[in-house]
Amino acid sequence: MATDTKIAQSSTATDLTGGSSFPRGKNIIAVASGKGGVGKTFFSISLTQALTRMGKKVLLFDGDLGLANVDVQLGLMPKRDLNDVIRGRLSLDKVVQRYEDGGFDIIAGRSGQASLSALPSQRLAMLRDQLIELSDAYDVVVIDLGAGVDRTVRMFSAFATRTLLVSTDEPTSLTDAYAFIKLGSAAGMSKNVSIVVNMASSKTEGEKTYKTLLKACENFLRLSPPLAGMIRQDPKVKETIRHQTPLLTRSPNCDAAGDIEKIAENAYQEMLEEAKMLAKAARG
Ligand SMILES: Nc1ncnc2c1ncn2[C@@H]1O[C@H](COP(=O)(O)OP(=O)(O)O)[C@@H](O)[C@H]1O
Ligand SMILES: [Mg+2]
Repeated sequence: MATDTKIAQSSTATDLTGGSSFPRGKNIIAVASGKGGVGKTFFSISLTQALTRMGKKVLLFDGDLGLANVDVQLGLMPKRDLNDVIRGRLSLDKVVQRYEDGGFDIIAGRSGQASLSALPSQRLAMLRDQLIELSDAYDVVVIDLGAGVDRTVRMFSAFATRTLLVSTDEPTSLTDAYAFIKLGSAAGMSKNVSIVVNMASSKTEGEKTYKTLLKACENFLRLSPPLAGMIRQDPKVKETIRHQTPLLTRSPNCDAAGDIEKIAENAYQEMLEEAKMLAKAARG
């Protein structure tokens, strides 16, 4: 049902992702999911932290404005946030906030504010352009996207260098992940999607989940999204969120932390390769 609704909704608008001339970032990793509650925000934060620990300068952008929860999961009280940019009060670079404990920068959303999806296309495009400009000051920008495939998500995912699509092995999460790829492919953005299986009960189960999704994509969409990696179900994750401390600070040696570090290495390499191809294409 949810999948059907999403399919119906998104066929109407390809406005911001339809053209081939929209700008693409060269160091932007978007984190997406078909449905909420799959660990997207937790993963975005941990990925950012893992990349930071690899020695990269990273910015985490909370693109899930309606349900902004990067600040909640980290216990931050941002003085400035994306809302100031959307209202035209501040430019994007002025709302960047240093998160000392993690060693990275954050652009916070604000929970409960009007969602990014309500923004007129032009403002959204302006935001995208400011973010691309700002990305020059970083090695990687990680975007925590809202769940689903609405206009905002499509735009951010289309200009990202890679999109990591998070799914669990629950059937509803898998169907919604499939719907994301299907709708994204109609909007011309699915070629850069890799899969992250979260809350896997074991490596074998995680692989099985990925293969189920891969088969559907190959059979019906002629797409073979690669596996970026899987994250095991780990009680340390809940504990770390409850303490509003990032996982790699609180429990750097737990299963989930190791899994995320592996994904960060993979995703970084994938991003570099994609950026190389983009540069080559731009040269003609
Ligand atoms: N690998 C994991 N192991 C155990 N619990 C997890 C894992 N990943 C996520 N969770 C749980 O899922 C919940 C939802 O995570 P969250 O990042 O808020 O999801 P989303 O942003 O997709 O809505 C978290 O509160 C956490 O308890
Ligand atoms: Mg979230």
